[in-house]
Amino acid sequence: MLVQLTYASRISKALGSEDIKNILKHSQTNNQADGVTGALCLSSGIFLQILEGDRNTVNRIYHKILQDSRHKDPAILDYREITARQFSEWSMGLITRTDDNKQLFLKYSSDANFDPYSMGAKTLRGFFDEVVDNVRWLRKNPD
Ligand SMILES: Cc1cc2nc3c(=O)[nH]c(=O)nc-3n(C[C@H](O)[C@H](O)[C@H](O)COP(=O)(O)O)c2cc1C
Repeated sequence: MLVQLTYASRISKALGSEDIKNILKHSQTNNQADGVTGALCLSSGIFLQILEGDRNTVNRIYHKILQDSRHKDPAILDYREITARQFSEWSMGLITRTDDNKQLFLKYSSDANFDPYSMGAKTLRGFFDEVVDNVRWLRKNPD
């Protein structure tokens, strides 16, 4: 059974771009081997991650990620069965707030700060749908 799990967490200490690259590299290698796909969003010190794949595998990986001291305050925001993957081409794609997508972060926020902890499942889905479309469009139109 295919599921999608979305959770938020806070960075537990200052993380540089090398730390983020390192997290991504391990995630991509492991997730590829496990048949897990998804996206990791980092904004204002908050991680927002979607993991999708086989239910038992996603649950196992989530519990492994919970043990990681680089983040804290984990909260599951959405967990649902899906019929098809949304991120089939990403073993773990990184989404950060940029000039190109910053209005999307505001569009789905109830106040000026992007706070996934206060977002509902439907809002989160809307946010990811648009942000992913935006990333795909930018990749096709690099200039
Ligand atoms: C915010 C965050 C997201 C992570 N996402 C994943 C992930 O999707 N898959 C994964 O295998 N590890 C992920 N990790 C890393 C794991 O916690 C763990 O460090 C890693 O899987 C260990 O890899 P190794 O067994 O190859 O050393 C994440 C860590 C953090 C802090």
